[in-house]
Amino acid sequence: MSTRLAVLASGRGSNLRALHEFLMRGERSSIAKLALVLSDHADAGALAYARTRDIAAASIDGGTLGGDRLLAQLRSHRIDLVVLAGYMRLVPEVVVHAYRGRIVNVHPALLPAFGGRGMYGSRVHAAVIAAGARVSGATVHFVDERYDHGAVIAQWPVPVLSGDTPQALAERVLRVEHALYPPSILAVAQSRISLDANGRATHMHLPK
Ligand code: GRF
Repeated sequence: MSTRLAVLASGRGSNLRALHEFLMRGERSSIAKLALVLSDHADAGALAYARTRDIAAASIDGGTLGGDRLLAQLRSHRIDLVVLAGYMRLVPEVVVHAYRGRIVNVHPALLPAFGGRGMYGSRVHAAVIAAGARVSGATVHFVDERYDHGAVIAQWPVPVLSGDTPQALAERVLRVEHALYPPSILAVAQSRISLDANGRATHMHLPK
């Protein structure tokens, strides 16, 4: 049976699109299926994208008080794995507890550097440039109760070039996110990567 994915996105949804296109190729759609897209912004590009692709889509109350409702929505769509793709809010604790090890996020820097509350969007890249870092990158990680904090699943470096603007760096990192996130999600969907009892990401090497 294929793993049912929900994507939570607040904005334009380019990672949603990259994931959807990735899953459409080859046999992957029988392994994992995009079953639901939810957003805390009714006008999010991610919702519009989902609707044009016949993926169930809805806006949600993204606040902590909406946790029980969010959990009920995930359960009613029989969601196995929750994918954050530009979701700007902290996932309510009730959902983190119910889906521990089955919620993933992508962050546009090499965590634990340049992550945490308030580190989102162009602020991340502006901070990287202001710090004089020569390398940034993208991180895929399991989600816990804190912003940008759970066990790291995968990271990929991106050079910071002299004269970079936050926007130029963001575009370079975003291309890496689109390449790194979908196969990482598939690996978690197939339990090739999982969260172990010590809170670390375990990579299993299965026979081909
Ligand atoms: C990405 O840069 C992601 O790393 C961050 O938010 C952005 C979302 O972009 N968490 P998009 O909506 O997927 O285009």
